Amino acid sequence: MFPVHRPRRLRSSETIRRMVRETILLPDDFIYPLFVTFGKGVKKPIPSMPGCHQESVDEAVKTARETYSLGIPGVILFGIPEHKDETGSSAWAPDGVVQAAIKAIKDAVPELLVITDVCMCEYTSHGHCGIVKDGEILNDPTLELLQKEALSHVRAGADMVAPSDMMDGRVLAIRQVLDREGYSNIPIMSYAAKYSSAFYGPFRDAAESEPRFGDRRSYQMDPCNRREALKEVALDIEEGADIVMVKPALSYLDVISDVKENFDLPVAAYNVSGEYSLVKAAARLGWIDHDRVMMEVLASIKRAGADIILTYFAPEAARLLNS
Ligand code: PBG
Repeated sequence: MFPVHRPRRLRSSETIRRMVRETILLPDDFIYPLFVTFGKGVKKPIPSMPGCHQESVDEAVKTARETYSLGIPGVILFGIPEHKDETGSSAWAPDGVVQAAIKAIKDAVPELLVITDVCMCEYTSHGHCGIVKDGEILNDPTLELLQKEALSHVRAGADMVAPSDMMDGRVLAIRQVLDREGYSNIPIMSYAAKYSSAFYGPFRDAAESEPRFGDRRSYQMDPCNRREALKEVALDIEEGADIVMVKPALSYLDVISDVKENFDLPVAAYNVSGEYSLVKAAARLGWIDHDRVMMEVLASIKRAGADIILTYFAPEAARLLNS
């Protein structure tokens, strides 16, 4: 009780604040998402995500090298294929754009963890994350496609796969096919609690994956639900997930915290495109201090319980942390 207790004593200098700081960000905490496209020498800025690009494989290799040199342990790859069809068949093409990128990056920077996003929406002509029949997104037939896609990524050399489609049972389906094919040591990071969020808007420009009809609400979670996230996470763990992810991050800090408290696996959080673009836009307008807001956002996600943060800020934040 005042005047005995004066919390300000521990805030009086930067040195003492450093000593009692509870959450310390490190480049080790980050995974950097890359958008890989066909062609050569392509590095096309994504207008709604300043600082991010669609890159051809040769350019992605350069970015990967730089990412690793900043102390960031991993990248997650998204593919923008040349050709889309009803079933997203280029998702598992052995010479697909993601497969080529995995090989090239692992050759150039073997220590960097190459994780792949496993989903159909970038590869299907209708832009949905699964097989569509009469306007419905079919669950079980989609699992086979996800198995093929995950296996082809791992065959190309991926260190980890990250299914983001939100079909029921996909973690088990992928675990089974990987085990059967001799890849029982490859971990799965599941997008376990993935919400149907308007914060994905800029990403869909970046990955050209906006659904052509309807929305994703029949498979992604309702943003108003909190307890349901625990159910989704528990199911994915039962099915064999090694790391569970909450996505988006910033509007879902309560969910990150719940997952951390209830489970013992590493928790990842995806600081998604819209969360990134909001900061970029406000900073451009001169309304906020970009670097301070960026670090506060990332620290809040870690403070809530995330062990791993997937973020487009990764290189910028790592540079600041290293300086
Ligand atoms: C693919 C996928 C999406 C994101 C990651 N994987 C988009 C979506 O579900 O529509 C979003 C990432 C971001 O917004 O940064 N299913």
